[in-house]
Amino acid sequence: MQGEALSAKDQSSKIKDQSPAPLRVAILSSEAVPFAKTGGLADVSGALTKALQVEGVDSFLILPLYDQVDRKLLSGIFIDDLEVEWRGKPSRVRVWKSDALKAPTYLIEAGHYFDRGRVYGERDDFERFAFLSRAAIALLKRLGDAPDILHCNDWPCGFASIEMRVRRRHEEFFAKTRILFSIHNLAYQGIFNPSDLWWLDLAAYTDAFIFKGAASALKAGITAADALSTVSPRYAQEIQTPEQGYGLDWLLRARRDRLVGITNGVDYELWNPQTEPDIAAHFSADDLSGKLGCKLDLLRRFDLPKEPERPIIAIISRLVAQKGYDLIRQGAQAILEAGAFFIALGAGAREYEDFLQRWHDAAPQRVGIYKGYAGEPLAHQIEAGADIFLMPSLYEPCGLNQMYSMRYGTVPVVRATGGLDDTVENFDPETGKGNGFKFGPYSTPAMLEKIREAIYFYSQPDIWAGIQRNGMAVDNSWSAAAKRYLQLYREMAETA
Ligand code: ADP
Ligand code: GLC
Repeated sequence: MQGEALSAKDQSSKIKDQSPAPLRVAILSSEAVPFAKTGGLADVSGALTKALQVEGVDSFLILPLYDQVDRKLLSGIFIDDLEVEWRGKPSRVRVWKSDALKAPTYLIEAGHYFDRGRVYGERDDFERFAFLSRAAIALLKRLGDAPDILHCNDWPCGFASIEMRVRRRHEEFFAKTRILFSIHNLAYQGIFNPSDLWWLDLAAYTDAFIFKGAASALKAGITAADALSTVSPRYAQEIQTPEQGYGLDWLLRARRDRLVGITNGVDYELWNPQTEPDIAAHFSADDLSGKLGCKLDLLRRFDLPKEPERPIIAIISRLVAQKGYDLIRQGAQAILEAGAFFIALGAGAREYEDFLQRWHDAAPQRVGIYKGYAGEPLAHQIEAGADIFLMPSLYEPCGLNQMYSMRYGTVPVVRATGGLDDTVENFDPETGKGNGFKFGPYSTPAMLEKIREAIYFYSQPDIWAGIQRNGMAVDNSWSAAAKRYLQLYREMAETA
């Protein structure tokens, strides 16, 4: 048999030939860290693209080049004249490249649509993101190596989901491309007037868009995708119910064999109390002492008295009903009576900004507020310096801050919904197990009871340190989630 033996060189080339080509995955998103961020979608889009590279995936990200993107992150113009068929005629845009993520990021420059000083909230949002989708598909073609997976995120990418489905029927180039549509928040649906489908050149797919008499980019995205995912297993169940289905529960039930829940991870390179540059002192589960320095720094930043024994309850969130601000408003007085400082960072609805202002004005020695989007350093400083992190959400697809909190020894108090329920384990004093406090009913008394319980244990430093360490020991890194996505992508790629 010797004659048949392969030389070492032959063997290695044979092994090479057998190893499958890496999966090529295009991630399309309306926001991503470090380029543009309004919420958790940005954290996820950036971190997942990076984490997939570590798993050997040929992943890359496509984003709009908003005016607020820091130009220092760009490495140069990648395409000068990308032709996009738009409103019946070709339009040309530039595409920039960035290597800031350790995975290629392509940013579509279309000043008319993306130089608006903000990411969302414009009257023509549907048009802006329909354009993004069309430009992204033109870019994929120009890149010349069709992706195995087009991973679309939330309603702004609903247009890409349906366009890809149609295009691959007619264009051999896209024949192998499978579409994953990830739902980060079902409540945002990209609603617009169906008559606009005509000039968007999407009228042929009206059925997929039509939703309660309007057009919904989210519904079209869900309808057209080969597979669906959402950002926690619990939320994957919840959105199939009329209570949390926002009118689309029937569609999600109909497609449930294609729907999975994959819990988001934490980018531990960015959220790391042992190494990150923006916090006042470093600390770890073995040596928590630095946390006091962070707490004093936080009190100073918010102009609060230097009373380190008093617990700080913090919240960082968009100021919207989803985040449970109605409960906080009703319970404001009782929270202070329980003996805590309260620090809030948030941007959003005027009514909640006004509430925070009034609360601060009434108790400037106890309530610290920052109204607006603060960027990353302050969010990290709050996570590092606070004792308790409050997330009384009405619903929460995943939620990232409870996981960030655990990393920083900041104990989460959350409502048991969606990803909060999946990621926080209620503390049990009998066993010493658990990393936070969870309440069930969406009610102020239920929230206050858990806040009081947390403060009660905070006053017993040994028990408290145990809860902190339980949270710090949890592995919420992206690698587990990236592996789940990879498995899903592979299954999709194998299905013709
Ligand atoms: P959501 O995506 O629903 O807003 P998540 O918990 O998934 O909620 O993610 C919120 C992200 O946005 C976190 O990284 C949080 O720190 C950040 N964030 C929210 N509001 C602000 C703000 N006003 N300033 C800075 N960061 C914020
Ligand atoms: C959405 C959800 C949030 C989730 C984030 C990232 O904005 O509201 O719960 O963590 O997307 O998936």
